Amino acid sequence: MLSFAIQVATEAGKLLRDRLGGHVAVSHKGQIDLVTEADVESERLIRNAIATRYPRHAVLAEESGLTGGTSSEYRWIVDPLDGTTNYAHRYPVFCVSIGFEYKGRIELGVVYDPIREELFAAERGAGATLNSRSIRVSVTKEVSQSLLSTGFPYDIKTSQHTNLNNWSNFALRAQALRRDGAAALDLCYVACGRFDGFWELALHPWDTAAGAVIVEEAGGRLSDFRGSEFCIYKPEVIASNGLIHQQMMDVLAL
Ligand code: IPD
Ligand code: CA
Ligand code: CA
Repeated sequence: MLSFAIQVATEAGKLLRDRLGGHVAVSHKGQIDLVTEADVESERLIRNAIATRYPRHAVLAEESGLTGGTSSEYRWIVDPLDGTTNYAHRYPVFCVSIGFEYKGRIELGVVYDPIREELFAAERGAGATLNSRSIRVSVTKEVSQSLLSTGFPYDIKTSQHTNLNNWSNFALRAQALRRDGAAALDLCYVACGRFDGFWELALHPWDTAAGAVIVEEAGGRLSDFRGSEFCIYKPEVIASNGLIHQQMMDVLAL
């Protein structure tokens, strides 16, 4: 299954990369929230591949929701293009994210960045890899020495929960912050030690399903803002190297 997921994520990523040079037709789901033809085509490719290989399995994908499958125990969770706003602007930070859930637990995850040709993968209990080489989280012990990442919700202009207070609190305490615009890659960058931590407050299961198991298998820690168990069906996440986790929780509680 892992090699199937790797193959499909790679194919979908190449489709995204090939379409990037041409005209990208964009429509709006919300004031900021976009969908491009590439999102839709990538999702179709992934969905068709799963339906052919695993016809009993359900698919939860960003653009078409939960469909297919006669068994509720097996569920693929797909973001066909994470980083759509970047993609629409040809800012080269985006990826394909595919997770697989069995009986409510994420068992494997694959995230492919077709620009850098970086393939992050993990299978529960078997460690995490970047292009087949084992990866681990960083050993940074202090937020003050940390490179942290986050994102802002699409409804930032109307919601009370903007993340701007957290951004300023961390900006004054961390070594530096980044907002790269693809949550699945943010999680993978925690897993391989490029980021020491990541937090976000309004994510969806397709943003985190693959990245979460990759972080865990790389030795990292995940939770909600209060330290309770992370769940892909809840919007909040802190992902860290474990060592700065409590410090991140303390800042998010300010
Ligand atoms: C978005 C990206 C972004 C995050 C948003 C997500 P999309 O996913 O991951 O970094 O801040 O919350 O919705 O729409 O590009 O697939
Ligand atoms: Ca996404
Ligand atoms: Ca998406």
